[in-house]
Amino acid sequence: MDSFLLIAVFAVLLSLPYWLPPLVIRLRMNIFTRINGEEAIQLPGNGFDAEDFKALYAHPAMKGRSKGAALSDLFWYWLSPGPEMHPEHLEQSERYRKLAGFSHKIMAISRKDIESLIDQYQDDPLKLGLGPKSKWTHIRLRDAFMSLWADFFYQVVFKEKCDDKTRKLIVNHAKDVVNALKCVKLRNMRRRKQLTNFLLEKLSLGEFPHTFPDGLTHLEQAHYLQGTFFNTAIVQMSEAMAHLTLVVAQHPDCQERLCDNPDNHYLDDVINESLRLHPLFGIAHRIATETVEFKGKTIPKHTVVCFNYPEYHKLDYDEPTRFDPGRWEKCPIKESNFIPFGVTANRSCPAQGLAMVSMRQLTKHLFRNYRFSSPIVHTRSLPNRGPCLVFSNQSTVNRRLVECIVFPLMKIRDRWEDLFRSIMQLFFGTAMILHAKKLRLCDRYFEKLEKPAFSSI
Ligand code: HEM
Repeated sequence: MDSFLLIAVFAVLLSLPYWLPPLVIRLRMNIFTRINGEEAIQLPGNGFDAEDFKALYAHPAMKGRSKGAALSDLFWYWLSPGPEMHPEHLEQSERYRKLAGFSHKIMAISRKDIESLIDQYQDDPLKLGLGPKSKWTHIRLRDAFMSLWADFFYQVVFKEKCDDKTRKLIVNHAKDVVNALKCVKLRNMRRRKQLTNFLLEKLSLGEFPHTFPDGLTHLEQAHYLQGTFFNTAIVQMSEAMAHLTLVVAQHPDCQERLCDNPDNHYLDDVINESLRLHPLFGIAHRIATETVEFKGKTIPKHTVVCFNYPEYHKLDYDEPTRFDPGRWEKCPIKESNFIPFGVTANRSCPAQGLAMVSMRQLTKHLFRNYRFSSPIVHTRSLPNRGPCLVFSNQSTVNRRLVECIVFPLMKIRDRWEDLFRSIMQLFFGTAMILHAKKLRLCDRYFEKLEKPAFSSI
């Protein structure tokens, strides 16, 4: 009897990584919904198809970004300090228009100049993140790209080289934000404020080569730069490259073609297919600023409307969950259900051009230098940061042999990490929601804004 019990306990323990993480995720989602108490509509779904998704996303009443949604306090908490200066979360206003125009100005860089900036990393694109090339090593893709993007965006913003100390400061900040957003760690405001102080110093020394729109304090300027270029830019580009590299690592034919000096068309098809399958936004939301009557349905004013990118990107494709860059040869992007950078009519990404050109150039250099391989299940949210083996392309090591030994270990490790991570996410997520509800950053900001003495831009 004792040995039967022992075997049963052992079996339950061993099987934990297979059934506990999905259970914890469901529990976490329930807690999130209960605490936030949102009355949200999800699209596509609820009788809204792909056409409705597009029409509603572009609807003039879908303009609210933060004010009036309980969820906004949480987003502002995650993006602090200075969430009120992040263009993504500003309401339509004079301040928003000026800052959106300013973002476009900083990002107005010619294709040739973007490519030359990326060419700095051509001999060893992962060197800044991993140190000098080794024959083969185990990496986390998202981490491996962060230093490169920190270096790149520092040069985009300040038009000067980035030193090691500054790069580290930016990477620490971006990691802190993305880890809190994914609820794998609590936020660390001390670390984030180190970057704010650094930016404040650069601004007061007059070392920022652009002129800000009038009416912003130095602290507001520092927060704008911190949120847009040293958080969103670094996190989005590192995640985009991590997804792209992981999906290619798991499709050897595609990897061979990329290593073989591919043309830009094929590169774009691969990048687009990666963004279709793994869009960086899971959900983008808007708050209805008016009541909308749409196809016999009523969406009341103040409703939070959630646009689900991964679901939309699956509609009307053959085998939508299959990675198939070739589909783009037959399928014009403009006519497809594909909006990795949002919809032009409603605040799409200002960095689309910069992101596509730099990713394409970096991808060329990446597969000229390395081969990648990974047995890990590839998920959109990538909480494991993309475990992967990377081989220098000059290395003579037997890749198959390494994979036979290391792959099973990587899979076991990933399963167990997933178990512990999902439990930690439950705790950290709940703690941060409660803290955000207590601080009410967004609510308080709008209360204060409505008082007459507040700054006008
Ligand atoms: C592959 C990389 C990227 C992807 C796929 C991406 C995707 C998106 C999407 C889908 C939106 C619109 C979300 C919505 O409708 O609410 C957006 C907005 C935005 N993105 Fe990106 N992004 C990327 C890179 C970047 C970079 C590098 C920057 C900064 C340099 C950036 C800055 C912004 C800003 C400021 C907004 C808010 C625009 C507004 O509300 O006016 N993004 N991005």
